[in-house]
Parts: sequence; structure tokens; C-alpha cells
Amino acid sequence: MNILITGGAGYIGSTVANLLLDRKHKVSIIDNLSTGIKKNIPDRSIFYKCDISDKKKVRKILKKKFDVVLHFAAFTNNDESIKKPKKYLINNYKKAKFFLELCIESNIKNFIYSSTAAIYGNNKKRIKENQKTSPLSPYAKSKLKLEKFFFKKKKDINFIILRYFNVGGIEKKLRCGFNINNNTLISNLCRSVINEETFFIYGKSHNTIDGTAIRDYIHVIDLAKIHFEFSKKILKKKYSDVFNCGYGKGISVKKMYNIFSKVSKKSPKVIFKGKRKKDISVSISDITKLSHEIDVNYKKAKWLDLAKTSIDWYRNNKEN
Ligand SMILES: NC(=O)c1ccc[n+]([C@@H]2O[C@H](COP(=O)([O-])OP(=O)(O)OC[C@H]3O[C@@H](n4cnc5c(N)ncnc54)[C@H](O)[C@@H]3O)[C@@H](O)[C@H]2O)c1
Repeated sequence: MNILITGGAGYIGSTVANLLLDRKHKVSIIDNLSTGIKKNIPDRSIFYKCDISDKKKVRKILKKKFDVVLHFAAFTNNDESIKKPKKYLINNYKKAKFFLELCIESNIKNFIYSSTAAIYGNNKKRIKENQKTSPLSPYAKSKLKLEKFFFKKKKDINFIILRYFNVGGIEKKLRCGFNINNNTLISNLCRSVINEETFFIYGKSHNTIDGTAIRDYIHVIDLAKIHFEFSKKILKKKYSDVFNCGYGKGISVKKMYNIFSKVSKKSPKVIFKGKRKKDISVSISDITKLSHEIDVNYKKAKWLDLAKTSIDWYRNNKEN
């Protein structure tokens, strides 16, 4: 396959790029390096330092005739989006829409879009794809708006929307990964156990077993495999659909802390702080639909490996 990846210098896009290259597919990457890391970009890929809204450059790149476009490029910081909603609307929706229109104009037919479970808002039960959406943050709203754009274009293109729950871990060879300076739970846990710094938990009065928020964390390598399977499938079946991507299992912040503590053999001090604005208490996927479509076979959530590889990645990158 000849694949174009937007946001391929980022955490998930680069992991997918490496997996596709390992399986002998051709990968081109568009990234403006706004949050991405240069060292994430695989040498074996063709890299274009380019904004997705750069009409001239994008049109030239699209002359290459790609089988599938995997669209990852976006700003992803939920908290920042509350302070700067316009920044998210412009980048994640307006620029992305513009880019997709250029792709459609260039006769590209197949797309896979990285959406998010944040579009569902708060939920007690496992979330199915047909659940009513209720995005709380401007980030989630911008991601949902682009989903709607895809549906509007259903006559002209095939698309698979993948709604990721939470993502963690690093691919086995530690060739690429997350930006260690970001503010996600996984980065914060790595920072805390490696530097032996206090770990802050936001909210201890969520309506959950231990009072801390519950999320469904999927290992990035499993997510990369999902992209590979759907890239093949969309080419063959030429269809459009939406799938949740998670393990269908929840883990609380406190339990994740315990896992990181066990793996690193460090127990940094924990301080509880107030709940963050627009924070969701529980978010767990129902992956029945996904497991009927592709062979996922997640017998056990791979949280131990997620913690181990994340810590290794953080340590390596802190030293470099
Ligand atoms: N990480 C998660 O847990 C998670 C969960 C749900 C959904 N997602 C979605 O997955 C996708 C990838 O997330 P990630 O964690 O890899 O983020 P990331 O920040 O590591 O990667 C995003 C990449 O997009 C690039 N980019 C942003 N705007 C661009 C633009 N206008 N033009 C060109 N490049 C641009 C950045 O430089 C970066 O390399 C995003 O769309 C995000 O919404 C991520």
C-alpha cells in the first residue's frame, strides 16, 4: 500500500508509520512539527515538513496518488483547548476540512480518521458507537465536527473513523513515542517515578470505586495494528464506518499509579487536588463492534507493558 500519514511526527502517527514500514508498505508523512518530534520520523518514510493547510505544498504531495490517507494531525491538549478554543477549532476542524477537500479534489478515496472517545462525554456504562455524543471540551468538539464533515462526504469517499479511548505505551524497539514534556497521565506518571517527584491526582470524589477517574487505556502498538487492519480492509471493502478503540476495560488513576510504582519500584508521594474543569469521571469502550470487524483478541489489557515501555521511553529521552 502507498499510505499518506498526517501528524506522522507525533506519538501515534509515528508508531503507525513504523509498523506499516516494517510490513513493507510505502509511507509518506506530512507534519508541521508543531507538537511532533523530529526523531519520531522514520528514516524509511518520505517526510514533508508542511502544514496540512498549505495548499500549494499539499497539492504537490497529493500528486503521488495515495491508496489511503491516515489523518492524525491535530492539537490534542484538552486543558489547553478550554483556554484557547479557537486554536483547536481552526487546526483540528477548519484546516483539516481544507486538507480533506484537497485530498478529495485529488481523487483520494480512502481515509482513516483519528477521533476520540472524548466526544461521548460522561458515561457510566461501556460506550457503544451509537451512543449519543456529548463533547465537553473544545478539543472534543473540534474532533466531532470533523467526523460530521466525513459523514457529509459519504457519497464521494470511504472512511473509517476510529474513536480512541486513552492511549499509552511505546512500540517494542522504542523508535518513537510521546513528547515527554506533555501533560498526559502517562507522561506525568513517568516523570513522577523517574524523578521521584510528587504525583498529583485531580479529583478523589469521582463516582468510582476508589474516587479517582477511570479510563480505558489501549497500548499504542495494538492501536497501530488496528490502523494496519483497517487500511487493508477499506481498500478491499470500500466502505465507511465508525469503531471504538480501547480494551473494553477501565483502570482508575490510582490503579495506574500502582502499576507504574510496581514496574519502577518507586513510590513517589501522592497529593490529591480538585477535579479539573470538564473532566470525565468514567470512560470505558464497548468494543463488540470492533472485535466483530477485525481480529483483536484482547484477553488481557496490556497495562504492565504499557507502563514499562513508557518508563523506558521517558528515561531514554530524558537522558538524550
Ligand atoms: N494520544 C491519545 O491518547 C489520543 C486519544 C484520542 C485521540 N487521539 C487523536 O490521535 C491523533 C494523534 O494524537 P497524538 O497523541 O499522536 O498527538 P501528537 O501531538 O503526538 O501528534 C500530532 C501531530 O500532528 C502534527 N500537527 C498538528 N497540527 C498540524 C498541522 N496543522 N499540520 C501538520 N501537522 C500538524 C503535530 O506536529 C504532531 O506531530 C490526534 O488526532 C488526536 O486527536 C489521541
